[in-house]
Amino acid sequence: MENGGVAAVIGAGGGVGAALVAALQEQGAYSRVIPLSRGSAPALDLTDEASIAAACAHLAGQGELRLAIDATGFLHDARFSPEKSLRQLDPAHMAQAFAVNAIGPALLMKHLLPLAPRTGRFVFASLSARVGSIGDNHLGGWHSYRASKAALNQFMRTAAVELARTRPEAICVSLHPGTVETKLSSPFARSGLDVRPPETAARELLDVIANLTPAQTGGFFDHKGLAVPW
Ligand SMILES: NC(=O)c1ccc[n+]([C@@H]2O[C@H](COP(=O)([O-])OP(=O)(O)OC[C@H]3O[C@@H](n4cnc5c(N)ncnc54)[C@H](OP(=O)(O)O)[C@@H]3O)[C@@H](O)[C@H]2O)c1
Repeated sequence: MENGGVAAVIGAGGGVGAALVAALQEQGAYSRVIPLSRGSAPALDLTDEASIAAACAHLAGQGELRLAIDATGFLHDARFSPEKSLRQLDPAHMAQAFAVNAIGPALLMKHLLPLAPRTGRFVFASLSARVGSIGDNHLGGWHSYRASKAALNQFMRTAAVELARTRPEAICVSLHPGTVETKLSSPFARSGLDVRPPETAARELLDVIANLTPAQTGGFFDHKGLAVPW
Protein backbone atom coordinates (compact mmCIF):
# COMPACT_ATOMS: atom_id res chain seq x y z
CA MET A 1 0.00 0.00 0.00
CA GLU A 2 1.06 3.61 -0.65
CA ASN A 3 3.26 5.18 1.98
CA GLY A 4 2.54 8.66 3.28
CA GLY A 5 -0.21 11.04 2.31
CA VAL A 6 -3.66 11.41 3.76
CA ALA A 7 -6.45 8.83 3.90
CA ALA A 8 -10.00 10.00 4.56
CA VAL A 9 -13.00 7.91 5.54
CA ILE A 10 -16.43 9.45 5.09
CA GLY A 11 -19.17 7.81 7.17
CA ALA A 12 -16.53 7.08 9.79
CA GLY A 13 -19.14 6.50 12.52
CA GLY A 14 -20.77 3.55 10.71
CA GLY A 15 -20.04 -0.14 11.20
CA VAL A 16 -17.76 -0.56 8.17
CA GLY A 17 -16.53 3.06 8.30
CA ALA A 18 -15.27 2.81 11.90
CA ALA A 19 -13.55 -0.50 11.14
CA LEU A 20 -11.88 1.07 8.09
CA VAL A 21 -10.54 3.93 10.21
CA ALA A 22 -9.19 1.47 12.81
CA ALA A 23 -7.59 -0.77 10.16
CA LEU A 24 -5.98 2.19 8.37
CA GLN A 25 -4.59 3.51 11.67
CA GLU A 26 -3.27 0.06 12.55
CA GLN A 27 -1.65 -0.48 9.14
CA GLY A 28 0.06 2.90 9.35
CA ALA A 29 0.55 3.18 5.58
CA TYR A 30 -0.77 6.76 5.50
CA SER A 31 0.71 9.61 7.49
CA ARG A 32 -2.78 10.74 8.53
CA VAL A 33 -6.17 9.08 8.68
CA ILE A 34 -9.02 11.58 8.78
CA PRO A 35 -12.47 10.38 9.87
CA LEU A 36 -15.39 12.44 8.59
CA SER A 37 -19.02 11.96 9.56
CA ARG A 38 -22.10 13.81 10.71
CA GLY A 39 -20.46 13.80 14.16
CA SER A 40 -16.95 14.95 13.16
CA ALA A 41 -15.53 18.46 13.22
CA PRO A 42 -16.12 19.69 10.61
CA ALA A 43 -19.32 17.67 10.24
CA LEU A 44 -20.16 16.16 6.86
CA ASP A 45 -23.84 15.53 6.15
CA LEU A 46 -24.50 14.16 2.67
CA THR A 47 -27.86 15.92 2.54
CA ASP A 48 -26.19 19.33 3.06
CA GLU A 49 -23.89 20.30 0.18
CA ALA A 50 -22.38 23.22 2.13
CA SER A 51 -21.19 20.77 4.81
CA ILE A 52 -19.63 18.55 2.11
CA ALA A 53 -17.84 21.54 0.58
CA ALA A 54 -16.59 22.71 4.01
CA ALA A 55 -15.34 19.22 4.95
CA CYS A 56 -13.50 18.92 1.62
CA ALA A 57 -11.96 22.39 2.08
CA HIS A 58 -10.75 21.17 5.48
CA LEU A 59 -9.30 18.02 3.85
CA ALA A 60 -7.47 20.14 1.28
CA GLY A 61 -5.39 21.68 4.07
CA GLN A 62 -4.32 18.37 5.61
CA GLY A 63 -1.74 17.18 3.06
CA GLU A 64 -1.80 15.17 -0.16
CA LEU A 65 -4.97 13.11 -0.35
CA ARG A 66 -4.10 9.59 -1.54
CA LEU A 67 -7.15 7.58 -0.44
CA ALA A 68 -10.78 8.44 0.24
CA ILE A 69 -13.42 5.86 1.09
CA ASP A 70 -17.10 6.75 1.24
CA ALA A 71 -18.64 4.30 3.72
CA THR A 72 -21.99 6.07 4.08
CA GLY A 73 -25.27 4.47 3.18
CA PHE A 74 -28.96 4.17 4.00
CA LEU A 75 -31.14 1.05 3.98
CA HIS A 76 -33.66 1.55 6.79
CA ASP A 77 -34.49 3.80 9.72
CA ALA A 78 -37.34 4.30 12.16
CA ARG A 79 -39.61 5.49 9.31
CA PHE A 80 -38.64 3.31 6.37
CA SER A 81 -37.93 -0.39 5.81
CA PRO A 82 -36.84 -1.90 2.49
CA GLU A 83 -39.86 -2.52 0.27
CA LYS A 84 -41.02 -6.07 -0.38
CA SER A 85 -43.31 -5.14 -3.27
CA LEU A 86 -44.36 -2.29 -5.55
CA ARG A 87 -47.37 -1.72 -3.27
CA GLN A 88 -45.01 -0.39 -0.60
CA LEU A 89 -43.33 2.27 -2.78
CA ASP A 90 -43.36 5.61 -0.98
CA PRO A 91 -41.98 8.77 -2.62
CA ALA A 92 -40.52 10.00 0.69
CA HIS A 93 -38.65 6.72 1.18
CA MET A 94 -37.37 6.78 -2.42
CA ALA A 95 -36.25 10.41 -2.04
CA GLN A 96 -34.34 9.62 1.15
CA ALA A 97 -32.59 6.61 -0.40
CA PHE A 98 -31.56 8.65 -3.44
CA ALA A 99 -30.47 11.61 -1.26
CA VAL A 100 -28.14 9.51 0.90
CA ASN A 101 -27.06 6.72 -1.46
CA ALA A 102 -26.74 8.56 -4.79
CA ILE A 103 -27.06 12.36 -4.71
CA GLY A 104 -24.94 12.83 -1.57
CA PRO A 105 -22.07 10.63 -2.82
CA ALA A 106 -22.22 12.39 -6.21
CA LEU A 107 -21.87 15.78 -4.49
CA LEU A 108 -19.05 14.32 -2.40
CA MET A 109 -17.25 13.36 -5.63
CA LYS A 110 -17.92 16.88 -6.98
CA HIS A 111 -16.06 18.45 -4.05
CA LEU A 112 -13.54 15.74 -3.19
CA LEU A 113 -12.20 14.49 -6.54
CA PRO A 114 -10.63 17.87 -7.42
CA LEU A 115 -8.38 17.27 -4.37
CA ALA A 116 -6.82 14.23 -6.09
CA PRO A 117 -3.13 14.86 -6.83
CA ARG A 118 -2.34 15.28 -10.54
CA THR A 119 0.26 12.53 -10.39
CA GLY A 120 0.82 9.42 -8.33
CA ARG A 121 -1.58 6.93 -6.84
CA PHE A 122 -5.01 8.10 -5.68
CA VAL A 123 -8.03 5.93 -4.89
CA PHE A 124 -11.62 6.97 -4.29
CA ALA A 125 -13.83 4.05 -3.29
CA SER A 126 -17.55 4.35 -2.74
CA LEU A 127 -19.26 1.57 -0.82
CA SER A 128 -22.08 0.37 -2.98
CA ALA A 129 -23.94 -2.96 -2.76
CA ARG A 130 -24.29 -6.03 -4.96
CA VAL A 131 -28.08 -5.60 -4.77
CA GLY A 132 -27.53 -2.39 -6.78
CA SER A 133 -26.52 -4.60 -9.70
CA ILE A 134 -29.27 -4.69 -12.35
CA GLY A 135 -27.81 -7.77 -14.04
CA ASP A 136 -27.66 -9.66 -10.74
CA ASN A 137 -31.23 -8.79 -9.62
CA HIS A 138 -33.11 -12.09 -9.52
CA LEU A 139 -34.96 -11.64 -6.21
CA GLY A 140 -36.68 -8.24 -6.61
CA GLY A 141 -37.70 -6.15 -3.60
CA TRP A 142 -35.65 -3.42 -1.86
CA HIS A 143 -36.61 -1.10 -4.74
CA SER A 144 -35.30 2.18 -3.30
CA TYR A 145 -32.02 0.76 -2.04
CA ARG A 146 -31.34 -1.18 -5.26
CA ALA A 147 -32.17 1.74 -7.55
CA SER A 148 -30.24 4.30 -5.49
CA LYS A 149 -27.13 2.09 -5.45
CA ALA A 150 -27.46 1.55 -9.23
CA ALA A 151 -27.58 5.35 -9.58
CA LEU A 152 -24.53 5.65 -7.32
CA ASN A 153 -22.64 3.26 -9.59
CA GLN A 154 -23.50 5.35 -12.65
CA PHE A 155 -22.42 8.58 -10.88
CA MET A 156 -19.15 6.87 -9.88
CA ARG A 157 -18.51 5.58 -13.40
CA THR A 158 -19.21 8.97 -14.95
CA ALA A 159 -16.90 10.69 -12.44
CA ALA A 160 -14.17 8.10 -13.14
CA VAL A 161 -14.26 8.87 -16.87
CA GLU A 162 -13.93 12.59 -16.16
CA LEU A 163 -11.19 12.13 -13.53
CA ALA A 164 -9.07 10.02 -15.90
CA ARG A 165 -8.76 12.99 -18.29
CA THR A 166 -6.65 14.98 -15.80
CA ARG A 167 -5.42 12.24 -13.42
CA PRO A 168 -4.49 9.17 -15.48
CA GLU A 169 -3.14 7.38 -12.40
CA ALA A 170 -6.29 7.93 -10.32
CA ILE A 171 -8.69 5.12 -9.48
CA CYS A 172 -12.38 5.65 -8.75
CA VAL A 173 -14.49 2.57 -8.00
CA SER A 174 -17.62 1.18 -6.35
CA LEU A 175 -17.04 -1.63 -3.86
CA HIS A 176 -19.43 -4.22 -2.43
CA PRO A 177 -18.31 -5.01 1.14
CA GLY A 178 -20.19 -8.34 1.35
CA THR A 179 -22.70 -8.91 4.13
CA VAL A 180 -21.29 -7.27 7.24
CA GLU A 181 -22.58 -7.31 10.80
CA THR A 182 -23.68 -3.67 11.24
CA LYS A 183 -26.83 -1.80 12.18
CA LEU A 184 -27.62 -1.46 8.46
CA SER A 185 -27.74 -5.23 7.90
CA SER A 186 -28.75 -6.58 11.32
CA PRO A 187 -32.54 -6.78 10.73
CA PHE A 188 -32.01 -8.60 7.41
CA ALA A 189 -28.97 -10.87 7.84
CA ARG A 190 -30.52 -14.29 7.22
CA SER A 191 -28.86 -17.44 8.46
CA GLY A 192 -26.99 -19.07 5.62
CA LEU A 193 -25.57 -15.75 4.49
CA ASP A 194 -21.84 -15.23 4.94
CA VAL A 195 -22.13 -12.44 7.54
CA ARG A 196 -18.72 -11.11 8.51
CA PRO A 197 -17.53 -8.79 11.29
CA PRO A 198 -16.73 -5.22 10.17
CA GLU A 199 -13.04 -5.76 11.01
CA THR A 200 -12.84 -8.59 8.45
CA ALA A 201 -14.71 -6.58 5.83
CA ALA A 202 -12.41 -3.58 6.38
CA ARG A 203 -9.27 -5.69 5.96
CA GLU A 204 -10.67 -7.27 2.79
CA LEU A 205 -11.70 -3.92 1.31
CA LEU A 206 -8.26 -2.42 2.01
CA ASP A 207 -6.63 -5.45 0.34
CA VAL A 208 -8.84 -4.98 -2.72
CA ILE A 209 -8.02 -1.25 -2.81
CA ALA A 210 -4.28 -1.94 -2.49
CA ASN A 211 -4.40 -4.22 -5.54
CA LEU A 212 -6.48 -1.97 -7.83
CA THR A 213 -4.79 -0.55 -10.91
CA PRO A 214 -5.70 2.58 -12.93
CA ALA A 215 -6.94 0.25 -15.71
CA GLN A 216 -9.74 -0.78 -13.31
CA THR A 217 -11.02 2.75 -12.70
CA GLY A 218 -14.78 3.08 -13.16
CA GLY A 219 -15.34 -0.53 -12.09
CA PHE A 220 -17.57 -2.26 -9.54
CA PHE A 221 -15.82 -4.89 -7.42
CA ASP A 222 -16.69 -7.06 -4.43
CA HIS A 223 -14.67 -7.60 -1.25
CA LYS A 224 -12.73 -10.38 -2.97
CA GLY A 225 -11.72 -8.09 -5.81
CA LEU A 226 -14.05 -9.77 -8.33
CA ALA A 227 -15.97 -7.61 -10.79
CA VAL A 228 -19.71 -7.32 -10.04
CA PRO A 229 -22.02 -7.14 -13.09
CA TRP A 230 -23.73 -3.81 -13.66
N1 LIG B 1 -23.61 -4.09 6.13
C1 LIG B 1 -23.80 -4.77 5.01
O1 LIG B 1 -24.09 -5.97 5.04
C2 LIG B 1 -23.66 -4.10 3.67
C3 LIG B 1 -23.88 -4.86 2.52
C4 LIG B 1 -23.74 -4.26 1.27
C5 LIG B 1 -23.39 -2.93 1.20
N2 LIG B 1 -23.21 -2.19 2.35
C6 LIG B 1 -22.85 -0.78 2.21
O2 LIG B 1 -21.71 -0.51 2.99
C7 LIG B 1 -21.74 0.86 3.44
C8 LIG B 1 -21.52 0.91 4.93
O3 LIG B 1 -22.64 0.33 5.58
P1 LIG B 1 -22.64 -0.15 7.10
O4 LIG B 1 -23.08 -1.55 7.08
O5 LIG B 1 -21.39 0.22 7.76
O6 LIG B 1 -23.86 0.72 7.67
P2 LIG B 1 -24.00 1.65 8.94
O7 LIG B 1 -23.30 1.09 10.10
O8 LIG B 1 -25.46 1.93 9.03
O9 LIG B 1 -23.22 2.97 8.47
C9 LIG B 1 -23.77 3.84 7.53
C10 LIG B 1 -23.13 5.18 7.68
O10 LIG B 1 -23.77 6.11 6.80
C11 LIG B 1 -23.82 7.33 7.45
N3 LIG B 1 -24.85 8.22 6.94
C12 LIG B 1 -26.18 7.97 6.80
N4 LIG B 1 -26.79 9.08 6.37
C13 LIG B 1 -25.84 10.04 6.23
C14 LIG B 1 -25.85 11.40 5.84
N5 LIG B 1 -26.98 12.04 5.49
N6 LIG B 1 -24.69 12.07 5.82
C15 LIG B 1 -23.53 11.48 6.20
N7 LIG B 1 -23.45 10.19 6.59
C16 LIG B 1 -24.61 9.49 6.60
C17 LIG B 1 -24.12 6.98 8.90
O11 LIG B 1 -23.75 8.09 9.70
P3 LIG B 1 -24.15 8.25 11.24
O12 LIG B 1 -23.13 7.40 11.97
O13 LIG B 1 -23.99 9.72 11.47
O14 LIG B 1 -25.55 7.76 11.37
C18 LIG B 1 -23.24 5.77 9.08
O15 LIG B 1 -21.96 6.17 9.49
C19 LIG B 1 -23.08 1.42 2.96
O16 LIG B 1 -22.91 2.07 1.72
C20 LIG B 1 -23.92 0.17 2.73
O17 LIG B 1 -24.96 0.39 1.79
C21 LIG B 1 -23.32 -2.75 3.58
